[in-house]
Amino acid sequence: MRKEIVLITGANGEMGHGLIAHLGATKKYSIVAMDVQPLDDFLKPLCERFILGDILDLMLLGRLVSEFEIRTIYHLASILSTKAEYNPETAHRVNVEGMLNLLRLAVEQSSWQGRPVKFIYPSSIAAYGMPNLETKQKAGKVKESEWNMPITMYGCNKLYCEHLGRYYTNNYRQLAADHTKTTVDFRAIRFPGLVSSVTVPTGGTSDYGPEMLHHAAQNLPYACFVRPDTALPFMVMPDAIRSLLMLEAAPRENLSQLVYNVTSFSPTAQDFYDQVKGAFPKAEITFEPDLARQGIVDSWPAVVDDSAAANDWGWQPEYNQQRAFQEYLIPTIKARYANCND
Ligand code: SER
Repeated sequence: MRKEIVLITGANGEMGHGLIAHLGATKKYSIVAMDVQPLDDFLKPLCERFILGDILDLMLLGRLVSEFEIRTIYHLASILSTKAEYNPETAHRVNVEGMLNLLRLAVEQSSWQGRPVKFIYPSSIAAYGMPNLETKQKAGKVKESEWNMPITMYGCNKLYCEHLGRYYTNNYRQLAADHTKTTVDFRAIRFPGLVSSVTVPTGGTSDYGPEMLHHAAQNLPYACFVRPDTALPFMVMPDAIRSLLMLEAAPRENLSQLVYNVTSFSPTAQDFYDQVKGAFPKAEITFEPDLARQGIVDSWPAVVDDSAAANDWGWQPEYNQQRAFQEYLIPTIKARYANCND
């Protein structure tokens, strides 16, 4: 008998840490984790198996089919927006071809199981693209269907992967004689910038928020690469993980769409600075905008409309800006870097 498992790609990334820590603690799931980087030691005992490998390795994915019955795939692996601009074609391969390989795996699994495999996908605010700052300032709360003109390779990849998920769910091989509706049950969330007290993101463009906080907590100087007035939606990791799990658990018939915004608060970089300075008064933080990265953030909405998630699966954030900093980020980060602040 093949073992029923949950597959998590990008397991050693920011979101992987949050998801494995949470799912592992419930002891309800057998987790098979994959990443191109070795898995952090504290996550290993929470996983049934860790596979060091690439989502572009078809042989490796093929072997998973023979060994495991995959009920849900959390496909978290991707190259983020800043890193992707340094080698857009490589990013495309990882972000899009990798996605295709995982969708193919889901199809194969569901045909063995005779039921759809859930495919949970973190998309991004980067799927949006506004032509200029004035438009961003006037846009108000942006809905999922608006401003879908991303200016980054990562954003293009995320938007297209959402389409692939929809295609595999609704129309995969629609002309085949053996066409069946039970294939993939794809569900995606467009995440805002994420902030965790445990990990820092690598290669994103919303990284100025988490970087400012983590530098200050370690007594390191930080030059913020966007202007103080730059506004972007952010969310703390516990809310992000909760939203993924809520969407995974939602009855299919309640979902009026496959891709949902979620949000919690929309600080400016100055708000971030004020919160961080309040907690770490000695922090050395300067603003040294990088015009190119600023341009990317300026193309992303300042506020998104998450009413569809609220209506369809009861989404509501637990952390507003005040709670996020005062009850989660600052206390946990102070404990984490305790010996840096002696
Ligand atoms: N945090 C991501 C990035 O900055 C956006 O989803 O690339």
